[in-house]
Parts: sequence; C-alpha cells; structure tokens
Amino acid sequence: VPPQEAASAAAAAPLPVLPRGGVSARLDISPLLKDPVAFRALIDLLEDHLRASFPHIDFIAGLDSRGFLIGPPLAQRLGIGFVPIRKKGKLPGPTESASYTLEYGKAELEIQSDAVEPGQKVVIVDDLLATGGTMRAACELVKRLKAEILECLVIIELKLLKGVEKLESVPFYSLLQYD
Ligand code: PRP
Ligand code: HPA
Repeated sequence: VPPQEAASAAAAAPLPVLPRGGVSARLDISPLLKDPVAFRALIDLLEDHLRASFPHIDFIAGLDSRGFLIGPPLAQRLGIGFVPIRKKGKLPGPTESASYTLEYGKAELEIQSDAVEPGQKVVIVDDLLATGGTMRAACELVKRLKAEILECLVIIELKLLKGVEKLESVPFYSLLQYD
C-alpha cells in the first residue's frame, strides 16, 4: 500500500469511545483490526517508520493486552522476535516487576528475567499512550534488564494528558495524535 493511501486508510478508521469505570472513556482499536486493509496499512506505516529510523532492532516488546495485537505482526514483518510484557501473575519463571498508577488504582507489569540480554535493542509497542504510566513501567522493566530502548511506539497519543513527559528521555513516536 502506498504511504499516502496507507496513512489515510489508517486515519479514516473510526475510533469509538467506550465507557470505562463509569467515569472515563477508552479508545477502542477493534474497528481498525476488523478492517484488513486498515490493519495492514497500520502495520505498513509502523514498519516503514521503524525501518527508516533504526538500522537494527533485536526485539519488539509489546504491552498486555493491546500491544499484543500490534507487536507480533510488526515483529514478523521486521523478521525479529516478540517479547510480551504482561500484567502481574501471568508469566512463568523468574520475572522483574514494576508497579504503576492508573485512573482506577494501581497495577503491576512483569517481564521474564531472561527475555532480553543486556545491550539488546528493543522497541516497546502499545496501542495507546494516555497518562504514560503503563509505558513508563514497561521502560523501567526493559532498563532493569539493561537492554537499550530504541523507542516507545504507539498508534494513538492522547496529547492533553502529557504522558510523554513521564517517559523522560526515552524516544517516543505516535502515529496519530488526539487532544
Ligand atoms: C490501556 C492501553 C495502554 C494503557 C494506557 O490499557 O492499552 O496500555 O491503558 O494508559 P496510560 O498511558 O494512562 O498508562 P489497559 O490498562 O486499559 O489494559 P488492556 O490493554 O488490558 O485493556
Ligand atoms: N486506557 C487509558 N486511558 C484511556 C484509554 C485507555 O484505553 N482510552 C482513553 N483514555
């Protein structure tokens, strides 16, 4: 798919807002995944961005759960492996964990201690950056394993929440930005 066409297909996919906890709202990427042309265009755009930005990437790390929908197809396109970063209590074996705050309380993310080697180059992928707490915790885990974070990559950035400030000096890229 040509980049222009891919960009407009991805941008044109509707992003309905669903109720969350009765107080907030949640952006839903299901319509994008359901449309094979838009889904493919999305992976094309992310692949093009990463190929243009980095000569070598060892792994794509994806965040539980919606980063698992984007990370594996992207890793396959790039011919590299995928590493899951999961919510607490799901991964077997020794793990590292990091807690973070959400609108509705606290949560914990985990990575397997042998998931990446020191010095390996990792891109962390998720669907959305809101307050940035989830992505920040993921960065902490990857850094604890002494891997190098090339970039945190999301489809959608909710600009008003300034989540990017939580990532401090870690490079960040979003395909679409909403206020
Ligand atoms: C959503 C989203 C991100 C995170 C962003 O996941 O997929 O991972 O919230 O929020 P933040 O930037 O404020 O931390 P959620 O925790 O709802 O879990 P889910 O993917 O399992 O639905
Ligand atoms: N997670 C966190 N914050 C949000 C979301 C979401 O899915 N959608 C809108 N704000």
